[in-house]
Amino acid sequence: MRNANRRIVLRARPTGVAGPEHFAEEAEAVRAPGPGEVLLETLFVSVDPAMRVWISENPGYVQRIEPGETMRASGIARVLESRVEGLAAGDLVHARTGWQSHPTLAGEAVEKLPDGIGSPTDWLGVLGTTGLTAFFGMRAVGLVRPGETVLVSGAAGGVGQIAGQVARIEACRVVGIAGGAEKCAWLRDELGYHATIDYKAEPDLAAAVARACPGGLDVFYDNVGGATLDAALGNLALRARVVICGRISQTAASELYGVRNMGQLIGKRARVEGFVVTDFQHRFAEGRAWLTARMRDESLRHRVHEIAGLERAPEALGMLFRGGNTGKLVVRVGA
Ligand SMILES: NC(=O)c1ccc[n+]([C@@H]2O[C@H](COP(=O)([O-])OP(=O)(O)OC[C@H]3O[C@@H](n4cnc5c(N)ncnc54)[C@H](OP(=O)(O)O)[C@@H]3O)[C@@H](O)[C@H]2O)c1
Repeated sequence: MRNANRRIVLRARPTGVAGPEHFAEEAEAVRAPGPGEVLLETLFVSVDPAMRVWISENPGYVQRIEPGETMRASGIARVLESRVEGLAAGDLVHARTGWQSHPTLAGEAVEKLPDGIGSPTDWLGVLGTTGLTAFFGMRAVGLVRPGETVLVSGAAGGVGQIAGQVARIEACRVVGIAGGAEKCAWLRDELGYHATIDYKAEPDLAAAVARACPGGLDVFYDNVGGATLDAALGNLALRARVVICGRISQTAASELYGVRNMGQLIGKRARVEGFVVTDFQHRFAEGRAWLTARMRDESLRHRVHEIAGLERAPEALGMLFRGGNTGKLVVRVGA
């Protein structure tokens, strides 16, 4: 419905995993664009673990979302009306739409999608933040080299599915950690992971990592943190690189896990490095060119997990913390 902008606002800060009880849906009249603005019809919005951080009391280096504010999110949209030079009705754009159906945004918050490259949802996943995080995290931070052994946690998620394949394409031996036999089979059979560990079925994760990586880990790409990080730290090879991409096991935890194996870094002369994908903003074109070429020659595959209906975005956010998604999670807003 074009005359109403439906939006999902934060109602209350969660303790633990966020869900529908922490959000509310509101509707307001669509606002006609002023000079330098566009009116959009949102097609898809992203759902990301970082959102749970943004709505917490102390989100750290990012700006906090206050109760009553529209949930911040990237989206893919179609331009309905434009007062921005270079953007016309009908154009498909990547924008900071938030979780809303018909936002009116400043032109600077909107980027036109190039013709003929990827599908709209690819620009939230493999060619968007998730794919670029995996690409730069694995190559520029992890510094993977051919023949190395690489372990990826959260391997069947949006970032993990790409991170492992970047290492596989760089001729590494790649082992993925994921929850459940089905996700593990998909990683091996479809994405070319050489081995997998179903952490939900392993009583001793460190022992499982040792079995899967007998020569130790040259690179650990970590999306999970906590006990998973400890299990990997206990299995490092000499001069290993530990890439701290995320720590989803800790994001909504009531009590933080104290990592015990930091001492391993000394004897292994290993390096631990965190990063934020925007550190590489000036190189995004390079990352997208690499990823697009590998999609075209079919060496890189990826999955988008689509949930239908803007009203289900809060439920989708909770899914990330329960392992309910395989691949990049998005919500379809428009028809
Ligand atoms: N540094 C950056 O710039 C940057 C940018 C984007 C994302 N990230 C981080 O990258 C990570 C992945 O993000 P994403 O968007 O691709 O999400 P995702 O991996 O698609 O979804 C989260 C997955 O994490 C796993 N998980 C949830 N709770 C867990 C737990 N307690 N223990 C182990 N695994 C758990 C679940 O898979 P299972 O079924 O396998 O449990 C779930 O599917 C997140 O930590 C995110 O914060 C970092």
